[in-house]
Amino acid sequence: MLKLISVNSKNDRMETLVIPVCEDRQIHENKTVTTLIAEAEKLREFTGGKGDEIIFYASPKIKANRILLLGIGKFKNFTTGSLRELSGTAVKKCIKLKLESCHIVVPSARKTGLQADRVLEAMLEGACLGNHIFDRYKYTKKQTPLELMTLVVPPSTAKKFSHLPLQVSAACAGTILAREWVSTPSNDKTPVKFAKSIIEEARATDLKISVLDEKKLTQKKFGALLAVAAGSKNRPRLLIMEHKPKGVKETIALIGKGVTFDSGGINLKSTGSLEGMKMDMAGAAAVAATLITASKLNLNFHIIGVLPLVENMPSGSAARPGDIVRTYAGKTVEIGNTDAEGRLILADAMAYAIDTFKPQTVVDMATLTGACVVALGEKIAGVFSSDDALARAIVKSGKKTGERCWHLPLPEDYRELLKSDLADLSNMSSSRWGGAITAALFLSEFAKDTTWAHIDIAGPTLIKKPDAFCPAGGTGFGVRLLLDWLKNR
Ligand code: BES
Ligand code: ZN
Ligand code: ZN
Repeated sequence: MLKLISVNSKNDRMETLVIPVCEDRQIHENKTVTTLIAEAEKLREFTGGKGDEIIFYASPKIKANRILLLGIGKFKNFTTGSLRELSGTAVKKCIKLKLESCHIVVPSARKTGLQADRVLEAMLEGACLGNHIFDRYKYTKKQTPLELMTLVVPPSTAKKFSHLPLQVSAACAGTILAREWVSTPSNDKTPVKFAKSIIEEARATDLKISVLDEKKLTQKKFGALLAVAAGSKNRPRLLIMEHKPKGVKETIALIGKGVTFDSGGINLKSTGSLEGMKMDMAGAAAVAATLITASKLNLNFHIIGVLPLVENMPSGSAARPGDIVRTYAGKTVEIGNTDAEGRLILADAMAYAIDTFKPQTVVDMATLTGACVVALGEKIAGVFSSDDALARAIVKSGKKTGERCWHLPLPEDYRELLKSDLADLSNMSSSRWGGAITAALFLSEFAKDTTWAHIDIAGPTLIKKPDAFCPAGGTGFGVRLLLDWLKNR
């Protein structure tokens, strides 16, 4: 549980009080806190440098069993992001010490110059996300999450922002849900199982959910999606989720790539590229978790989630390079490479969403290209849009939530790279270069005149090593980003 409280003599004894310390600037105003920091800095081993820590036991000045001072480094690098990391580190440290709760002192807004609500949100997020342990597949559970994480603030702040803990808990629960879906191995999340799991998680909400099975998909002519699914014994699904508060006119459609395993198909990936490919449904996970959270938070928008769920496998029934398929939209596509499957299923899902719900805005999220990871590395997503303002809004939300995004271009003259001699389009660019861009251009062919953005999350979806507030595995990237973007439109 997350809380904001002010500490006074009436409070119970705290198990652990965590104080963030900046190396070259005082960021606290409270006299007791500043005295404690001064005492710690008298000791050579603690300077407040990033990663520095020191524990005082049974200090007479504060009713806490232990006081943990954590360094965050130099003030010039100090952001809400550092505070998100600090809270995560603090919670993880307390988990390691087998504790049950943790109190973290919030730096003074006056001293840091940061916006109070942003600081609180970031610190609550760090604590909540840092408390996530994914041990479903371990027989012995080595760690137990904390029961209570509290931010210590002045009384007026606790009162003014009393709504934040619940709001942040909900967004973080969504992020954690997406993380766990992504971390789940592909044998436990075939399209059918994944669809069931989403429906199960949405049970306590007002979301309207429908599922198209293979028969329906064939009837409705989802030719591209079915071609991707053709190689696998695990049958595809299209999941449609709808959050519809009364009286809302504008409709937003979110589309998420849901390839539950991407082997590459007949263009089989090689060892080294195959291993992480259970994560190829992270876009669908983020969209599903966003809808579930939007419903729990009663967000006042009409949101549709459309999730094409397939497994991309090689077999005697798989689609071949050179095959030509007719998409839901009617355009034909020559499959130049069966590993460029994401754009095929998204093309059908997008066209279906636009056709059926006539949304004003469509945003798709997908682990679409290795090229995007080459361009931006493993921590930053690529954003493409037919509308600059929409791209800017997404990038801005990412700055706030710490899910970094970078606006990339959609150059008209690159479209010719997707030409096919026989079909309307090829799913494979004729150039080796600019793969993230050509993939986005391919999708844009299916957006019609709807305002559309595409977020390529191939990089930041999965981490191999744990970081300050995320265990190794799925990061849940995109959930808080989409929620923030929705709220601030
Ligand atoms: N799922 C992959 C993209 C990917 C790569 C995600 C690495 C995460 C990490 C996608 O389906 C794919 O295989 N894309 C190909 C496209 C190519 C064949 C045109 C790629 O990026 O190499
Ligand atoms: Zn692929
Ligand atoms: Zn893929």
